[in-house]
Amino acid sequence: MILTVGGVGAGGICVARAEDGRVVFVRGALPGETVRVEVQSEGARFLRATVVEVLSASEGRVEPPCRWFGTCGGCDWQHASPALQLSLKADVVREQMSRVGRFAWDGLVEPVEPSWGWRTRSQWAEGVGFHAHRSHDVVPVDRCIISAAEEPPGPLGSVVEVMSVAGQTAVAVDGRGSGGVRVPVLDRRFEVAAGGFWQVHSAAPSVLVTAVLEGLQPQPGESCLDLYSGVGLFAAFLGAAVGPTGSVLAVEASSRACADAARNTDDLPWVRVRTAAVTASVLKPADLVVLDPPRAGAGLEVTAALARLRPRALAYVSCDAATLARDLRVLLDAGWTLTSLRAWDLYPQTEHVELLALLTPPT
Ligand SMILES: C[S@@+](CC[C@H](N)C(=O)[O-])C[C@H]1O[C@@H](n2cnc3c(N)ncnc32)[C@H](O)[C@@H]1O
Repeated sequence: MILTVGGVGAGGICVARAEDGRVVFVRGALPGETVRVEVQSEGARFLRATVVEVLSASEGRVEPPCRWFGTCGGCDWQHASPALQLSLKADVVREQMSRVGRFAWDGLVEPVEPSWGWRTRSQWAEGVGFHAHRSHDVVPVDRCIISAAEEPPGPLGSVVEVMSVAGQTAVAVDGRGSGGVRVPVLDRRFEVAAGGFWQVHSAAPSVLVTAVLEGLQPQPGESCLDLYSGVGLFAAFLGAAVGPTGSVLAVEASSRACADAARNTDDLPWVRVRTAAVTASVLKPADLVVLDPPRAGAGLEVTAALARLRPRALAYVSCDAATLARDLRVLLDAGWTLTSLRAWDLYPQTEHVELLALLTPPT
C-alpha cells in the first residue's frame, strides 16, 4: 500500500493510517514522507509495515552508510540526518512528557560525539550478527559501524557480549566472562568485569557524571544514595565530593556489579555498597539521591517512597522517556519541583535518548 506517514512513535516507527482507518506502524520512513510499504503483520486495530520504496523523501533523508541497515534490527535511524535524528528524539521526549508526565517540555536533545563507533558493549547473536527487527532471526553482519569493536567475535556461544572501551576488550559468552576492562572517567578509574554493566556510549560516563555533580552540588559531610548503582560510577564521584565526613549508600541488584563497585570505591571507605533490589524498604534518609534505573524505571512505589524521603535534591537518570515521565508525575503530584530536564543523544542512529531530571522537594 502507499501511505503518507505522520510523526514518530515508540520503537522509532512512523505512524500512518490505512484506507480502512487502521493505524499502520511504518519502519524505515521519516515524518511527512510518502512511501510504498510491505505489510509485515496485521491485527484488528493496527498493522506493521516496512518501507520498500520512498515516493516523496524527507529533506532530512540520507543514504545509510551501513549495508546491513534495514535488515539488521540494531539501528533505527541511519537514514535520517544527524540534525533530524535530534529533532525526532526531542519530539518523542516532548510527547511523552506531555502525554504521560502531563507537563510541557521544550528542551533540545544535545548531540554527543562520536556518533559512529560509540557502543562500548554489543551483544552478538551466535557471535556472528544481530537479530532482525522484532524477530529471533539472526542477521550475520561482517562489520558493525556503531560498535567500538566493529568485527564479529565469532561463533563462541548463543550470546557473545563484547565490551570494548579505552582500547581494551573483554568478552562474555552466554553470561560467563573472564577478565574485564579498566576505564578512566574524569579523574578516576573504574574496573568492569566482562559481561558487567557499563554505560553504552563511550562518552556517557563523563557527560552524565558532570551533569549530575553540577546539578546536585554535593557538599562535604552530606549523605547520598546512589540507586541502581552498577559498578559505582556515581557513588565514586559523590563519595569523593562529600569526603570522609559524608556517606554514600550504593544499592545495586547484580552481585557482579557490586563486587566491581566495592573495588571502584575502595579508596573511599565512607561509600557502602549493598547488593539488593531497590525497594521502598532499602531506602535510607539522605541529603542527595541519584537513581539510574533500567528501562522499566523506578516505578510508582519506589518513586513515592523517594518523594517521602525529601532529600535536598534528586537526580533521576533515565534511558526511557515514558517511564521517566510516569515517575516524574508521582514527584510532581507530591509537590516536587522539576528544576531541569536535559536530554542527550547517547544512542546515535537509534531511536533512544538519555535523560537527566533534577528535582527539589516542596519547602
Ligand atoms: C542503567 S544501569 C545504571 C548503572 C550505573 N548507574 C552506571 O551509570 O553505570 C541500571 C543498573 O540497575 C541494576 N538493576 C536492575 N534492576 C534493579 C533493581 N530492581 N534493583 C537494583 N538494581 C537493579 C542493573 O544491574 C544495572 O546495573
